[in-house]
Amino acid sequence: MKLLAISGSPRQASTNTALLNAIKRRAPLGADFFVFNQLNTLPVFSPDLEGDAMPQVMRKFIDQVALADGIIISSPEYIRAIPGGLKNAIDWMVSRYEVVGKPIALVHASHRDDDMLVSLRLVLRTVSEHFQEDNFLRIPLIGKTPEEVEAVIQTSNYEVDISKFLADFMARIEEIKQK
Ligand SMILES: Cc1cc2nc3c(=O)[nH]c(=O)nc-3n(C[C@H](O)[C@H](O)[C@H](O)COP(=O)(O)O)c2cc1C
Repeated sequence: MKLLAISGSPRQASTNTALLNAIKRRAPLGADFFVFNQLNTLPVFSPDLEGDAMPQVMRKFIDQVALADGIIISSPEYIRAIPGGLKNAIDWMVSRYEVVGKPIALVHASHRDDDMLVSLRLVLRTVSEHFQEDNFLRIPLIGKTPEEVEAVIQTSNYEVDISKFLADFMARIEEIKQK
């Protein structure tokens, strides 16, 4: 099963990317888990760039979305909203078919950022029929380095939470496929 994990933060030492990498390390056998943390490389959406005019880098990203059985998103809040890079990537998807039936779940690397989460949930409910709103994993990791993120997860009950989050998401993906 292919899982595409998108980090809303292109920052090198991002806690959201570190959380996705920690989840990847704990993914069960049979999960092909890819972390994408380069939203900053995607061009700004314009309807003029759809179709044949689509830049190659965008086509590659959309292919990754198309091939994924499910998408996991982890994002910071920027000025009480969805970071521009993440919203831009979603804007590219909205008039296309790839994301409509795609199971999507959120994880979050902070105890804050609820305004962004409210907005992102509304956006994801709008673009996907299968946004798994009730399956949400939140681990307070703000200000930590990637090494500290891994250490927190190893020395806590969060490994159990990660396993449950992934098992529930993968089971839901299988259910949706059967329909
Ligand atoms: C431009 C910018 C705007 C931010 N705005 C907010 C905000 O509105 N609310 C908040 O709680 N944190 C805000 N933050 C803090 C980030 O959400 C926080 O540092 C987060 O952990 C960064 O995620 P990352 O480690 O994945 O890069 C902002 C950070 C930046 C760089």
